[in-house]
Amino acid sequence: MSKIILITGATDGIGKVTARELAALGHHVIIHGRNQQKAERVVNEIKTATGNQHVNYLIADLFSMKAIKHLVTNFNAKYDHLDVLINNAGAVLDAKRFETEDGIEGTMALNVMAPLLLSELLLPKLRLSNDGRIINMSSATHRMAHPDMQDLNLSRVASGQTRYAISKLFVIWNTQHFAARLQQAGITNVSVNVSHPGMATTNFGQDSNNGFFNNLVYKVALFIGKTLHVATPEQGAVTNVYLATSDAVKGVSGKFFDNKKHQVKPATGEYTPAKELALWNYCMEKIQPWIDEN
Ligand SMILES: NC(=O)c1ccc[n+]([C@@H]2O[C@H](COP(=O)([O-])OP(=O)(O)OC[C@H]3O[C@@H](n4cnc5c(N)ncnc54)[C@H](OP(=O)(O)O)[C@@H]3O)[C@@H](O)[C@H]2O)c1
Repeated sequence: MSKIILITGATDGIGKVTARELAALGHHVIIHGRNQQKAERVVNEIKTATGNQHVNYLIADLFSMKAIKHLVTNFNAKYDHLDVLINNAGAVLDAKRFETEDGIEGTMALNVMAPLLLSELLLPKLRLSNDGRIINMSSATHRMAHPDMQDLNLSRVASGQTRYAISKLFVIWNTQHFAARLQQAGITNVSVNVSHPGMATTNFGQDSNNGFFNNLVYKVALFIGKTLHVATPEQGAVTNVYLATSDAVKGVSGKFFDNKKHQVKPATGEYTPAKELALWNYCMEKIQPWIDEN
């Protein structure tokens, strides 16, 4: 059965391939982008490649909660329900820290707050699905994260890559918490899981500035990956497509899946339920004004 699927960051990389493959399976795919021309181009590419004309786009800069809210308003005006939300957009940002218009460190805003706000705002539409699914994207780098819970706006973290690793650990904790909240509320028709795409040769990290050596590592990794045809975006999209469509994971929630579709354990070295709750409360406090406006 055809599903309505919204994928963030689907104008490039893993998100774009995920969108194309889900469209090829006959689903109604809504790609999210931040650049209208690029989004229009990708919609046309996917329509041509798959023959599926049910491909649309929505625009939002995910650094901005106001823009996220606007995206959801536009979605709600056009679609009566949502079957799958894939919170794919994410990035490693520059070493130089910046804060968004909402006063949130950029990596936290894009990788942690945006997925959570979208999930909260779109939950009513997901609840109208027989089998609503949320998929959040993490990374192997979460295993290297050692967050300071007194510094959740990452003001004392000097490296873009360290902020990225922390944000991807936080995605896992928020996913677990979201799943538990759904269960407590008796919501059985919406699940939320984490997808880890593995390394994929995309534009990921190519534009970030984390010093000469780190910048070079991203460029060399991309060159080698593309030359040897390994770690393709297609391989990176496998678990997303699986989590969005497979009956095998219907009702499974709060779990972490690797790039081979296997449910595995994320790193637990930093984990405590109290830290998970502290993170959740911090994030909810930041996004609450945009939820209350509903
Ligand atoms: N590639 C890997 O090896 C790897 C490994 C582990 C995890 N991941 C995760 O997988 C996900 C996809 O990564 P990717 O490799 O496909 O990255 P990518 O090729 O750089 O694509 C990222 C997508 O996110 C969008 N995006 C970035 N910042 C945005 C913003 N502020 N507002 C709206 N959209 C924004 C980009 O839009 P534009 O097209 O406008 O740039 C693009 O569509 C990310 O969450 C990443 O952390 C990737």
